Amino acid sequence: MSDILRRGRLSSVPDEEIMKFTSSMDADKWIFKADTLVDLAHTVMLKEQQIITDKECASILDGILTIRKEGIEKLDHTYEDIHISLESRLIDIVGEDIGGRMHSGRSRNDEVATCIRLTLRNEMLDLMEELLELRRTLIDIASENVNTIMPGFTHLQHAQPTTLAHHMLAHSDAISRDLGRVMDSLERVNICPLGAAAFASTGFDINRERTRELLGFDGLVENSMDAVSTRDFLIEVAAALTNIMINLSRMAEEIVIWSSSEFDFIELDDRYASTSSIMPQKKNPDTAELIRGKSSVAIGSLMSLISICKALPMSYNRDLQEATPNMWRSVENTRATVRIMSGMVATMTINETTMASQSISGFTTATELADTMVRVCGIPFRTAHQIVGMLARGSGTPTLNEIDAVAHNVIGESLSSHGLTEDMIKEALDPVLNVRKRQVTGGPAPLEMERAIGKRRENIVEDAQDIDTVRSRIGTKIQVLFDVVDEYRSIK
Ligand code: ARG
Repeated sequence: MSDILRRGRLSSVPDEEIMKFTSSMDADKWIFKADTLVDLAHTVMLKEQQIITDKECASILDGILTIRKEGIEKLDHTYEDIHISLESRLIDIVGEDIGGRMHSGRSRNDEVATCIRLTLRNEMLDLMEELLELRRTLIDIASENVNTIMPGFTHLQHAQPTTLAHHMLAHSDAISRDLGRVMDSLERVNICPLGAAAFASTGFDINRERTRELLGFDGLVENSMDAVSTRDFLIEVAAALTNIMINLSRMAEEIVIWSSSEFDFIELDDRYASTSSIMPQKKNPDTAELIRGKSSVAIGSLMSLISICKALPMSYNRDLQEATPNMWRSVENTRATVRIMSGMVATMTINETTMASQSISGFTTATELADTMVRVCGIPFRTAHQIVGMLARGSGTPTLNEIDAVAHNVIGESLSSHGLTEDMIKEALDPVLNVRKRQVTGGPAPLEMERAIGKRRENIVEDAQDIDTVRSRIGTKIQVLFDVVDEYRSIK
């Protein structure tokens, strides 16, 4: 048997069906590049610790760089995973006497955990940048629509006037927390399990700190049993992605509703719409509907990850191989959704006229009218609430006479006798003035929105810097790894 893994202990090879069932080669395309980095760093460390010779090190490094260049297609896909397939290719290139030494002091268990973390951290950095772009888009729309009055909803019923700026910032603040969660979890993703070997570490005098440093990890997953066993970092990131997708599905749902004929608040750019195969007039918000639907991928992946990890005994169990593809599925789906959402909202047309005219329908200014009664007439809010509630059964634009009539019924006096005037009522019923008055922190008043938008633009710059810092810290470390690799390759 030529299979470098099975030829010792096992006497037969799996048939095609068993092979397909047990192999992770398909999903391992995600970690191919990372695996070559792990091989390079491990080999460098083996040489420095004099576990392999300078010459062996140089040949292995050359071989790994060749494999990196050849790409995953060159690997034998009948192996059960990328690690053993890559090692077998190395042995093809440099011979077993040299290539067969690379795996000293290491197991696929610590190797795969390291590869997943390396790959995931890059995905997270890219995702964070995409989330930033979405925030920028939402904030740009907000800043152009500080005075765009629209109805705000509770229970999807007209509630109070607000602005599109206020609504867009609500979404962008949610996305900002989502980004924070990804950034926070990076701290627990970017730690290095390498050197844990199968689970009990190794009797070779390896240097875990050195491989950690070369691979740009911020710390070690120290306990070697924990290091190979845990996938809690996947669950954590999958949960963060689920939050993102839930927030995006909420935006998508609003886009679907807002682009309906009943609402007519927005029109999507044609690129994001589809039509009907039978009804020629249709313009459907399919992209938004798909975002709504695709949020289930994140939820499903999270559920799979959780249930795969539940009740697994220490340490490595092959079940873990089933966990990883869920992460990639979720990350790929989430990143695509974030990018599509940015493009879709950036290009939609906003129908300000409908928003403005709808902003008063359903007596949305009722709260302000009741508040005015409290402020001017000194009656308790609950009483004003009753008076306005009774008025709401009418036209929605009550006159002073109507108000006084109801007030008489409720409190036995008119409110005009307590100073309420027609002008005050008119002001209370004006949606623009309603919004202008809501100037408390976080409210929709244009001045407050300008402040909030400014602050959020600063936050975006800070977040972009934080992402850059992490990226360049990692990039510098990987560059050092390649410099060391180049240096050691020349020692022959
Ligand atoms: N393909 C495996 C995974 O994804 C790599 C580790 C295999 N380890 C083992 N002991 N069979 O988990």
